[in-house]
Amino acid sequence: MQEEKVKFETDGLFYNPHMHFCRSFSSLLVGTIPEELSLLDGFSASGIRGIRYASENPNVKELSFVDLDEAAVELSKLNADANGIGAESTQGEFNSFLNDKRFDFIEIDPFGSPAPYLYHAFRTFRRTKGGYISFTATDTAVLCGAHPGACRRVYHSEPLHDELFHEVGIRILLKFASQVANEFNFGLKPLATLSHRHFFKLFLKLEKGSAAALTDVANTGYITLCKGCGYRQAGKVALEVCPKCGKKTAWGGPAWLGELHDAETLDKMQELNSQREYLHKEKLAKTLSLMQGEIGMPPWFYEIHKTCGRLNIQPPPKTEILLKNLTDAGFKASQTHFSPIGIKTDADICSFGKALKG
Ligand SMILES: C[S@@+](CC[C@H](N)C(=O)[O-])C[C@H]1O[C@@H](n2cnc3c(N)ncnc32)[C@H](O)[C@@H]1O
Ligand SMILES: [Zn+2]
Repeated sequence: MQEEKVKFETDGLFYNPHMHFCRSFSSLLVGTIPEELSLLDGFSASGIRGIRYASENPNVKELSFVDLDEAAVELSKLNADANGIGAESTQGEFNSFLNDKRFDFIEIDPFGSPAPYLYHAFRTFRRTKGGYISFTATDTAVLCGAHPGACRRVYHSEPLHDELFHEVGIRILLKFASQVANEFNFGLKPLATLSHRHFFKLFLKLEKGSAAALTDVANTGYITLCKGCGYRQAGKVALEVCPKCGKKTAWGGPAWLGELHDAETLDKMQELNSQREYLHKEKLAKTLSLMQGEIGMPPWFYEIHKTCGRLNIQPPPKTEILLKNLTDAGFKASQTHFSPIGIKTDADICSFGKALKG
């Protein structure tokens, strides 16, 4: 097999070619970190993630793998050697393995939810000033509200199973991670937050101190959506009744209401991407550019077609015209990576309706 410049074997072990884009995105992110890193590729399988991180980024100085499966342990070591990367590979259960370990960057890439692994991962940083954690979640159906009971049970939040589901789902996951980090006296700075296909991927910098942890607490709240008139709002409380039309609302949370990305990190990722010849170079640039537009925006968006339906506006305007109408009226406006027909803006629903009509 080959992914970018890495040649590797899978020997029938887990390998998902659809995660190629995610691994390229993640490797760009690792490359933006200014410090030298000891990096743990937890849940390594063939080791392709860690090998790409280490072979593409000179700041990765030490690479370790851990996997439950003995065959994966041998394979990740062989694959690393074949690509000229020195790596330690250990057979073990992720949480138990971490007991007395310390790394600068921990990569968590499990099947399903990362929730059972976050406590032990954050705990490893307890005697340090900080570090980095990245994790994948493929239980998006739970976070997005297809199974509300599971979301309440695992993430202690109410999901929102409607047009904002991906954004609210990822914000619930971020809220959950921040609560675990806060227990160890860390606040979280999201460097980048990606929703793609069937997965969420989060990249977090840990910032030490109770002030940082309490900022996370202040960043937590609820997102309310009125499916009657399209009103939406984010705040410390969920609104059960729409203040505009009086209908019963839908709401999700508690969820992270702060920024999802760090501007400097995204700029550096764009720069690195322009220097690399990745298969998904164009798609990566487009995704990063959409994320850049999400910074400084409310923690929700308007879906053009649903909003036109609610406000009886047909046909929907072209996206470029809508964006221009909003900026001409003095609002911030951009597309979002959460939906190809989603618009982030600081315009309220009345002003958004006017911009839709042109
Ligand atoms: C989704 S795959 C990893 C994919 C890999 N990172 C990649 O990019 O191709 C999950 C891996 O985690 C391993 N695993 C599952 N539960 C584990 C646990 N509790 N501790 C350590 N490894 C585990 C499995 O054996 C499997 O190899
Ligand atoms: Zn309403």
